[in-house]
Amino acid sequence: MNVLMVTGGSGFIGSNFIRHVFEDTGFQGRVINLDLLTYAGNPENLADLAGRVGDRYVFERGDICDREATGRLMDRYDVDTVCHFAAESHVDRSIVAPDEFVRTNIVGTHTLLQLVRERAGRIGRFHHVSTDEVYGSLGATGLFTESTPYHPNSPYSASKASSDHLVRAYHATYGVPVTISNCSNNYGPYHFPEKLIPLVILNARAGRPLPVYGDGMQVRDWLYVQDHGRAIWTLLEKGQVGETYNIGGRCEMPNLRVVEMICDLLDERLGLLKGAPRRNLITFVKDRPGHDRRYAIDSTKIERETGWRPAETFDTGLRKTVDWYLEHTAWVDRVISGAYQDWIRNQYGTETRSK
Ligand code: NAD
Ligand code: TYD
Repeated sequence: MNVLMVTGGSGFIGSNFIRHVFEDTGFQGRVINLDLLTYAGNPENLADLAGRVGDRYVFERGDICDREATGRLMDRYDVDTVCHFAAESHVDRSIVAPDEFVRTNIVGTHTLLQLVRERAGRIGRFHHVSTDEVYGSLGATGLFTESTPYHPNSPYSASKASSDHLVRAYHATYGVPVTISNCSNNYGPYHFPEKLIPLVILNARAGRPLPVYGDGMQVRDWLYVQDHGRAIWTLLEKGQVGETYNIGGRCEMPNLRVVEMICDLLDERLGLLKGAPRRNLITFVKDRPGHDRRYAIDSTKIERETGWRPAETFDTGLRKTVDWYLEHTAWVDRVISGAYQDWIRNQYGTETRSK
């Protein structure tokens, strides 16, 4: 692997992944980050990198659905590996406005597959980053394995399921060298504050209500984002072509407990809020339609085949995350105020598409 194209590298997981590649893996080649910079893509996440690695990190603003332009980039940079993160990623947005999810997640993935197929022999791997939400909802017991039938319940998870099927089909039909990973909920630095954990950290810091959907007893299996990045790198190196790998943290937690832990950590770090614990801010709100009750991942396969293990427990990862948000107030303020959108306008002269 010499030239790695990362799609969606300015988003939450993609930017943490690129940072990991340069800082921790010993990779000597180039990373081409292809990102459209939608509302979720923030160039500031990797702003420090260019100064440190020079032209081994290249940012290209572009749309994965644009077949011609993306193909030109693959050829210009002699891309030999693609790691595909770009997506619309927020379930609540997919409920309100599903069109963009179909376009980016399904049509975009298909466009990349066509381009990789056309470059057989030159592009040796297409790694597709997907989610455990494709499997649907678990009851009180059991775990998702790689052979659990797909049963997506939201437009987001249905679009990701569809893209997974296309990736698998392009391998079976055309021999495109793919790997797929289905990962549980991530958390950590650079997480856009529409998602539960950063939203609750920032609201609790500011003394605003903490919205908990339904009874708050929905369970997610949390994985620290850098553990996910390490897993993907491990799969690029050791994953078997044509295979799917589940990735999870063995950290099942009901949402209400997550929110309470964040409140307690902030009370510990900042002191009580006007003499009262932040748990008082918890506000139960109307449930999300089609809300999956429980996700939990069996990651035995990746552990057995590659030796990967998560390094963080939920306790250590959440402490790091809370501290990161408390320490990076300038990043937080710019993200909340949308100020980095001004930077994109100045740089590219265009608005981002979805807000
Ligand atoms: P994100 O929303 O933070 O980032 C998505 C990135 O993709 C942004 O930088 C955005 O600008 C870019 N993008 C969107 N549309 C594009 C297009 N048409 N062309 C080029 N770039 C485009 O998402 P994330 O949380 O970092 O998720 C990354 C991937 O991981 C997604 O595929 C998601 O389904 C998957 N995943 C996420 C989680 C999670 O907990 N967040 C868990 C498992 C899997
Ligand atoms: P989220 O971070 O949106 O991730 P996903 O929907 O992909 O799992 O939500 C995580 C869990 O938290 C999910 O069960 C929905 C719930 N949730 C709330 O209770 N309140 C909120 O304000 C948000 C954004 C999510």
